[in-house]
Amino acid sequence: MEDLIQIANTIVADGKGILAADESTPTCTKRFESISVESTKESRNAYRDMLFGTEGMENHISGVILFDETLRQSTVADGTLYPEYLSAKGVLPGIKVDKGAKALAGHDGEKVTEGLDGLRERLAEYSDLGSKFAKWRAVITIGEDIPSRTCIEANAHALARYAALCQEVGIVPIVEPEVLMDGDHTIDDCFVETEETLQVVFEELFKQGVLLEGIILKPNMIISALDCPEQASVEEVAEATVECLLRVVPAAVPGICFLSGGQSDLVATQHLNAMNDLGVDLPWRLSFSYGRALQAAALKAWSGDAAKVSAAQQAFLHRAKCNGAAATGKYNEEMEASS
Ligand code: 13P
Repeated sequence: MEDLIQIANTIVADGKGILAADESTPTCTKRFESISVESTKESRNAYRDMLFGTEGMENHISGVILFDETLRQSTVADGTLYPEYLSAKGVLPGIKVDKGAKALAGHDGEKVTEGLDGLRERLAEYSDLGSKFAKWRAVITIGEDIPSRTCIEANAHALARYAALCQEVGIVPIVEPEVLMDGDHTIDDCFVETEETLQVVFEELFKQGVLLEGIILKPNMIISALDCPEQASVEEVAEATVECLLRVVPAAVPGICFLSGGQSDLVATQHLNAMNDLGVDLPWRLSFSYGRALQAAALKAWSGDAAKVSAAQQAFLHRAKCNGAAATGKYNEEMEASS
């Protein structure tokens, strides 16, 4: 139990957060299409090698979430397995363990995340391979008459079963219920549905005996949907998110690491900074577990070209540094200009 608490606290140590680099092969292929790079085992390895090899990232990144394929891959330079390489740098290796969100039977437009079958055995192997934490993502969609209570409960139940299995083997579960920002719903709709979702998730975690001191919550921010005509300001997002979390996230949880979910990299940093700069005394740390918002600039700069590795690493380090500063409310626009 003490190890779980220590790992969870290390993840949200001052000015640090998580790099989510656990894109499944189809998702990584989609990202590579945007830069016209063929997605192969080798190109995916080269890309992750660029990210993880960034000197100084360990000052801002406490952990990296890996996909199964990457967990078993190794550095291009000398073949060191990534879990070992990251650990030597002082970065905790993590692993995505869910098997993706699938259509929920009888509920048009809604999904439930699969992957519980055989999870105990998979977690034991991941632990042997060096994983210190894991991730399971549930998705909740806002639309006409959805989300249904059935969808929220099914996903919350699976998240709690996953979390309990993780803790059994000494792995810290990242509990990720993502209320999607797709659609045209308002920030108020997002607030209502996120509040209900988180409330049900914590009820399930409690029922299933999950140690709250040994988890990290990875939620969406309270934000206007991408196609909502009225976009909430940075301050409104920060205030609404903190208000919602204060209502439903127990103080025993050590840290909350947001997903970026389709926000631009700059805005994701601004939102996190604004929350930490509200002057509100918070019971948990607020940090990041960004995928796209940490990688977008680096991916573009890299573009599959070995000669651009250094430029891409600079872009990644810059975003990591800005988000690290935002995790303590010390980010400012001049940091962008100075890069
Ligand atoms: P984004 O920050 O791109 O939403 O990815 C985070 C993540 O890990 C989603 O599961």
